Amino acid sequence: MMPDLFRDDVLTLETPRLFLRWPTVEDVAQLARLAGDRVISDMTGIIPHPYSQDMAARYVGDARQWNSEGSKLKLAIVERREPENLIGMIGLRLTEPGEASLGYWLGKPHWGKGYATEAAQGLVDMAFMFTRLDRLVASVRVVNPASRRVLERCGFQPTGSDFLSLPAWNGAVPVETYRLTRNLWRSLKGWRTPVPSRSAPMAALG
Ligand SMILES: CC(C)(COP(=O)(O)OP(=O)(O)OC[C@H]1O[C@@H](n2cnc3c(N)ncnc32)[C@H](O)[C@@H]1OP(=O)(O)O)[C@@H](O)C(=O)NCCC(=O)NCCS
Repeated sequence: MMPDLFRDDVLTLETPRLFLRWPTVEDVAQLARLAGDRVISDMTGIIPHPYSQDMAARYVGDARQWNSEGSKLKLAIVERREPENLIGMIGLRLTEPGEASLGYWLGKPHWGKGYATEAAQGLVDMAFMFTRLDRLVASVRVVNPASRRVLERCGFQPTGSDFLSLPAWNGAVPVETYRLTRNLWRSLKGWRTPVPSRSAPMAALG
């Protein structure tokens, strides 16, 4: 079960350029448009293609229900400068005691700006700070180097390979599996902390 903090729709996670917030009915059109791109279905394996506004509306309802029950956490990714404009989704799904699986996608026009990494790092930090989860896991298609890179930059370690059969795929496809334990996250946290700039703080150190 996710903590109470995640189960309230006022939850908003802030990262330097993004907000992660509960999806709302106002997001439906944009969700259908961006998630309707074939590549999103091909890489996530769970978003059907084609993807209609009705499907997106049902998904938003389901996501809000899962969030309030605490079985999953599904958050819209938005830019701080345009908080009403969904650009992608990110979430956690409880898989077994102490473990949750991380998933995300971004609309194609928003790729290549570091947003997925920023959103994933934010959610990973929140997960380990506010839950008792021991580890996060993720699976990535072998043909998806960008997503592998996102996981690596969050500190995830490869644990092997597998064949996964998800609803949007026609049969099983090869995936690489990843894991980030709480202990590793804790030790990497210091490594990820930005170094002080060379100006005032360094001068103050003498
Ligand atoms: C995977 C995805 C979320 C990445 O989003 P993004 O915001 O563009 O990712 P970022 O900009 O944070 O980081 C991408 C990283 O991958 C790297 N990358 C991108 N394309 C790459 C490629 N073809 N080969 C190798 N690395 C690649 C980028 O250089 C960047 O690494 P860097 O920060 O070290 O330079 C986005 O492409 C997407 O939504 N894809 C479809 C859905 C999907 O794959 N979801 C994940 C399912 S596991």
